[in-house]
Amino acid sequence: MIALLLRSWAWKVVETVCGSTDVVLLLASCAARHAIDKELPIGAHQDCKVVSPDIPFSIWVPLHDVVPLRTSGLGFIVPPPSEMLPTLPHGDIGADYVAERVAGAWTPTYRAGDLTLHTKLSPHFTTGYGTRSDRYSFEIRAMAWTDAPEQLQDPAIYVRRRGDGAPVVVQTRCSGDTRAQAFVAKTALLAARGLSAGFA
Ligand SMILES: [Fe+2]
Repeated sequence: MIALLLRSWAWKVVETVCGSTDVVLLLASCAARHAIDKELPIGAHQDCKVVSPDIPFSIWVPLHDVVPLRTSGLGFIVPPPSEMLPTLPHGDIGADYVAERVAGAWTPTYRAGDLTLHTKLSPHFTTGYGTRSDRYSFEIRAMAWTDAPEQLQDPAIYVRRRGDGAPVVVQTRCSGDTRAQAFVAKTALLAARGLSAGFA
């Protein structure tokens, strides 16, 4: 997934949003998820509240097609506010906020591997229809090297643009003897191979 992202048009968007071509993938804040679609109450959250105020955005990629009302996916309330909203005790911004802006609720249709990018302020929600179908997704978090707090960079993969313009993995970090070491090394290797093989 990371190799494909580095090769895709979306990486330029990532760099633009980061304001830098030196980007660190914050693996500790990335997630591969499996969930069962169940009916969900109305609500939404901002990642600045429930993930980290330091991480500027998040990329969400479903590993299968997502069709609103049939398949659970990720939706958004647009336009986003410019500040952190007050929340209920569990971090949700509440049904009232969503109900008042229902015209701004956007639930995209995704093909497998499509992605959306939302900022830490963008209110978003998982759609739930009660179909009991499986949802598999990948969430990627990244930011400019220079902006990344130390505690978010372990484990991490560092990407930079080569002289010829291609983004490459230039460094990894994974301290201690955790099982993540092998994963990080393999991910970096696969990303590098994918890039040199030039697959799209
Ligand atoms: Fe989120």
